[in-house]
Amino acid sequence: MTDEQYYTLIHPYKDALNLVLTRLKILNHTTYTDENFQPVHSITDRIKEKDSIENKLRKKHASPGAQDAKTLLQDIAGIRVICFFEKDIRHLTECLRKQSDLIVIKEKDYISSPKPNGYRSYHMIVGVPIYYMNGMEYYPVEIQFRTISMDFWAAMEHRICYKNQPFNEMEMRSAFLQYSEILEKMEKSFEVYSESEG
Ligand code: GTP
Ligand code: MG
Repeated sequence: MTDEQYYTLIHPYKDALNLVLTRLKILNHTTYTDENFQPVHSITDRIKEKDSIENKLRKKHASPGAQDAKTLLQDIAGIRVICFFEKDIRHLTECLRKQSDLIVIKEKDYISSPKPNGYRSYHMIVGVPIYYMNGMEYYPVEIQFRTISMDFWAAMEHRICYKNQPFNEMEMRSAFLQYSEILEKMEKSFEVYSESEG
């Protein structure tokens, strides 16, 4: 894929991403009546790099061009929403689901069912309508909802385990699983304090 083809490909994904970011910001200050208890701690976003798109397509045994990227990849536009508590994630995802112009393409609840390694997060792929002079097309945006503690765990796991084959792998894997459970407990007790405060 040439640079020009890449920029043409990602253009509508950027528009879709910005639209979802704005919706999330509005939800953040309208979800709860008390402005001191906003559900979102922070939001990051990214458009997948050209190399990363090409590598992922090669892994899928597809051709590394714009056409296959558009038909096969649903995470060209990605947003990570870091919340305080699980209940904030439930609220935000419910509100997003109610926005009738968006379509929910896929949802994965790794909070109710964590991955075997202990990964917890709520993944949602929404289709965002992008209107042109003479038509409309949906573009996918991947949104990962995590609490601060889930994000802390995932960042460490990604850094330490991803593409790594450490000599003490078994020990490390069992530690990560255990930390995931400890973090969940810690977060739940912070939540109890937070409720007694409000
Ligand atoms: P991808 O091909 O990576 O997009 O995976 P998928 O299509 O099976 O989707 P899934 O929802 O499982 O994962 C999408 C994204 O979630 C990944 O690209 C990571 O950002 C994140 N993720 C999923 N599993 C893990 C994990 O075990 N550890 C960490 N750190 N991140 C994960
Ligand atoms: Mg991905």
